[in-house]
Amino acid sequence: MFETVDHIGIATADIGQALETLGKTGPLTLGKEEVIESFGVKAVMVSAGSVPIEFVEPLGDDSGVAKFLKKRGEGVHHIAYRVADIDAALETLRSQGFRLIDEKPREGYGRSRVAFVHPKSFLGVLTELVERELGKDVPPYDPA
Ligand code: CO
Repeated sequence: MFETVDHIGIATADIGQALETLGKTGPLTLGKEEVIESFGVKAVMVSAGSVPIEFVEPLGDDSGVAKFLKKRGEGVHHIAYRVADIDAALETLRSQGFRLIDEKPREGYGRSRVAFVHPKSFLGVLTELVERELGKDVPPYDPA
C-alpha cells in the first residue's frame, strides 16, 4: 500500500527559525509556505534528497500541532507515506482495525489529499497518508 515515505513532518513554534537552522547546512530548496486551514497550521516543504521535510507551525492554540508542542516541544510530529489511491488505502486500514483520525481525505500541502491515522494504532507514530496530484511524486518546490 505504501509507495514510499512522502515526507517527515517536524513541529516547530517558528517556521522562520526552523528554516534558519536548517539553512546553516547550505542552500535550501523550498516549497511555498501554505496555510492549511483544516489543520490549523502553516507549513513549508523543504527538499532534502529523496524525502522532504515538512515544517508545521500552529496558527492558534487549539490545533493538534499546538497541543503537540505544548506537551512534547519541537520535534518529529508525523511520518507521511505516499499512496496511489488514498480512498482505497483508508478503506484497507479501516477494515484492518486501524484507528483513523480522518475518515475522509482532506486537502493537504501542495494540492495533495491527505488523511491521518492515530498514533495509538500505528506503532506510536502519527501517520499521514498522502495522495499526490496525478503524475507528481514530489511536493511542488519554487524554483530558487
Ligand atoms: Co505532513
